[in-house]
Amino acid sequence: MPNVVLVGAQWGDEGKGKLIDVLTAQADVIARFQGGNNAGHTVKIGGDKFILHLIPSGILHKGKVCIIGNGVVVDPQALLKEIDELAAKGVSVDRNLFISEACHIIFPYHRKLDLLKEAKMGALRIGTTGRGIGPAYMDKFSRSGIRLVDLLDRNVFKRKLEAALAEKNQIIEKIYGEKPISHAEIFEPYCGYADRIRKFSANTSVILNEALSQNKNILFEGAQGTLLDIDFGTYPFVTSSNPTAGGACTGTGVGPTHIDRVIGVAKAYTTRVGEGPFPTEFDEKLAARVREEGGEYGATTGRPRRCGWFDAVMLKHSIDVNGIDSIAITKLDVMDILPKIKVCTGYKHNGTVYKTFPLNIDVLSASEPVYEEFDGWLSSTKEIKRYDDLPANAKRYLARLEGLMGVKIKMISVGADRGETLSLESIF
Ligand code: GDP
Ligand code: IMO
Ligand code: MG
Repeated sequence: MPNVVLVGAQWGDEGKGKLIDVLTAQADVIARFQGGNNAGHTVKIGGDKFILHLIPSGILHKGKVCIIGNGVVVDPQALLKEIDELAAKGVSVDRNLFISEACHIIFPYHRKLDLLKEAKMGALRIGTTGRGIGPAYMDKFSRSGIRLVDLLDRNVFKRKLEAALAEKNQIIEKIYGEKPISHAEIFEPYCGYADRIRKFSANTSVILNEALSQNKNILFEGAQGTLLDIDFGTYPFVTSSNPTAGGACTGTGVGPTHIDRVIGVAKAYTTRVGEGPFPTEFDEKLAARVREEGGEYGATTGRPRRCGWFDAVMLKHSIDVNGIDSIAITKLDVMDILPKIKVCTGYKHNGTVYKTFPLNIDVLSASEPVYEEFDGWLSSTKEIKRYDDLPANAKRYLARLEGLMGVKIKMISVGADRGETLSLESIF
């Protein structure tokens, strides 16, 4: 069976969690490779709703191995809360989860610095989730971070925490004029978290490569989305990792020769949480309507999501930078209420129409979308189980999206529940 990377093709919240849950049935191992608990992946099974932040959405299936790869930044408090919440709902997290000992750890000073920086930036803020993601990756890349393997050794942790706090407290006090954080308030509680996490820690690259040698297959679960990628997104309004497919290799220790397919997940429209340019954004009246219909509120922060039309120029960019070879379209049912539907096919800037996604956000912000307009279908798609039974206008819309993207749509989601999924062609 092939190894598949699933990535968000827009600004996150495309419905990755739901699709990972559906695809997990055909996978042996499910691996997260980047991001942290800034992610919120929702899975609905019957009347039950699960929101996963750090643990792969595959955990809800019995008998699967879940991996948190080295590319993920781990907040131990958030992780343990998630494990406890899953246990309370009858999902056991024990020998089915392994966390790379090379993962960098998020500490309270990362969260504090994230919030302080955002507050100081005022109107120029990024609109982060406030989970300390950016500061934790900063420490990783400046080679001063504390990894899980360090946290698990009291002596090493003590020494590294002292060094980290000496620096962070200077920043907290001198730049932001705030109270420093003491060694004591972090050290003992985090040693306690370490004791609970110890049994999950492993060299996960070894586990993954052993699985491959036994002909088991891996499903890589992307978090965030391509336009939030630190390299290929709408910088600086991005996250601090590589949610694009290449991140699956560097974030797990599985080489690129093992990746067989890349599936991109996109909503039938577009949403974004946080600040930054959004050319196809609706006016507030339409946004409010679609937000209510689609339940477009952040799964992590509860913030209302900004909503807009499907952007085929953006999708083409995502397809290129990820090597996407199949597409899953989600939330088609949310468009049931719209009499007219638009799709962006180009950007007009200074009299020229561009067909490629500008990485200069000043150009992007000043661009005017060029639209194609479609008649809506104004009937419910929620109960539909087969592609052929979709309304003619919905099929016309999907066929045009496929034509613009140049990649096959292999899955269509018409509701949040596991069962509300049309599979046009196997991904595996
Ligand atoms: P993720 O971050 O990509 O996993 O997506 P989120 O879970 O943050 O946001 C997607 C939201 O849409 C969740 O509330 C899902 O339950 C819901 N959802 C997923 N697919 C569909 C769909 O096809 N139709 C509807 N109406 N809701 C969906
Ligand atoms: P999932 O995996 C949507 C956004 C934040 C902010 C920017 C930077 O559920 O799709 P950060 O806290 O990462 O430094 O914030 O990225 N963001 C997301 N938006 N879905 C997500 O994850 C996101 N994770 C981060 O809103 O604009
Ligand atoms: Mg989400």
